[in-house]
Amino acid sequence: MKRLILLGLTSLTLFAGFIKAIADGVDEEVKAGSETEITLPDSIRDSFYAEINAGFQSLEPIFRKGCFDCHSTSTEFPWYHKLPIIGGMMDDHIKEGREHLDLTSGFPFSGSHGQLDLLGDIREEIEEGDMPLWSYRLMHWNASPDDAEKDSIFAWIDHSIALLKSNRPDSTE
Ligand code: HEC
Repeated sequence: MKRLILLGLTSLTLFAGFIKAIADGVDEEVKAGSETEITLPDSIRDSFYAEINAGFQSLEPIFRKGCFDCHSTSTEFPWYHKLPIIGGMMDDHIKEGREHLDLTSGFPFSGSHGQLDLLGDIREEIEEGDMPLWSYRLMHWNASPDDAEKDSIFAWIDHSIALLKSNRPDSTE
């Protein structure tokens, strides 16, 4: 009987692993498919990227104030980073934040998604007030972009997304 249960559990684990592998595979495909700007001819893409980066550089102070501590390699560590637990929590945020989005070298950004998705994600996170993280805002009360700053960021993102989509082969049909 014990053996039977063990066998049952093993096959269940195998099955779950199999389903997860399929789900991950599908996820990968969806992500790869959404990196639309890759389909642009290199020369056009590079000039679009340069234009988008110029916009980013002019907005950089806003991102430096609210995002760079977790989304770049130029983190300014406050004194309480030396405290146990709190310091570890901050290190986790920085590591995870950078994996998702690294603004250090300007646009194109590095991160876990394609450029179009990252731009859309930045807009969404700011619009919904999810970024900067609330725990960060606790100690940095003016980290969030104000309304005028948000408007400039959104205008830059909307323009950038329109630009990257403008020459997609499938949008000319
Ligand atoms: C205190 C650290 C911290 C600060 C400051 C911060 N972030 Fe994040 N950010 C994170 C972490 C951690 C994650 C990954 C986990 C999550 O999505 O909550 C993340 C994820 C993201 C993502 C990816 C979301 C996704 O769906 O994959 C975006 C985009 C983002 N942040 C934008 C910003 C912007 C823009 C700012 C500044 C206005 C900012 N963040 C400030 C820690 C931070």
